[in-house]
Amino acid sequence: MNHIVYMSRAVRPLSDQDLKELLDQCRRDNALHDVTGILFYSHGNIAQLIEGAPEIIEPLFEKISRDGRHSHVVRLVNKPIAARSFPDWSMAFHPLEHEGFQALEGFFLPDQLPPTPTSMTIADALIVDLVRQAVLGAPGQSEL
Ligand SMILES: Cc1cc2nc3c(=O)[nH]c(=O)nc-3n(C[C@H](O)[C@H](O)[C@H](O)COP(=O)(O)O)c2cc1C
Repeated sequence: MNHIVYMSRAVRPLSDQDLKELLDQCRRDNALHDVTGILFYSHGNIAQLIEGAPEIIEPLFEKISRDGRHSHVVRLVNKPIAARSFPDWSMAFHPLEHEGFQALEGFFLPDQLPPTPTSMTIADALIVDLVRQAVLGAPGQSEL
């Protein structure tokens, strides 16, 4: 089992509808391939962690990095892990309209996001916290 962490920039700001469609697509396709992880999005900034078998997530990452919805994709990590840290696929972002999002499975408002799992190694948890803060801001920091 490996995980890959990358950051990128949306080519144009993703609307609530775009994010909803991406959430649906990821939940469906990742479940089929036993891929889990988490995606952070805010103001065009994206960070994602995907975890699963390397022969699955490496080609998936290649596909994601060619997706025209974002650019400047930089892979920060690709390494073996002992166990999954995000067994339920999830996404965290600030929707423009909160209405309708709260009920979506796998969706979190940044303030409601559970803490990074303590089962992760300190180094891995640090990376996840760094990319999360880079995208969503420090915990408790209100949105500009
Ligand atoms: C920011 C971002 C994250 C994505 N994450 C995933 C993902 O976790 N799993 C996935 O299957 N597709 C993900 N995609 C979508 C893929 O890039 C691609 O559109 C999708 O796998 C459908 O590919 P296909 O047309 O070859 O079936 C993501 C796209 C973007 C822009």
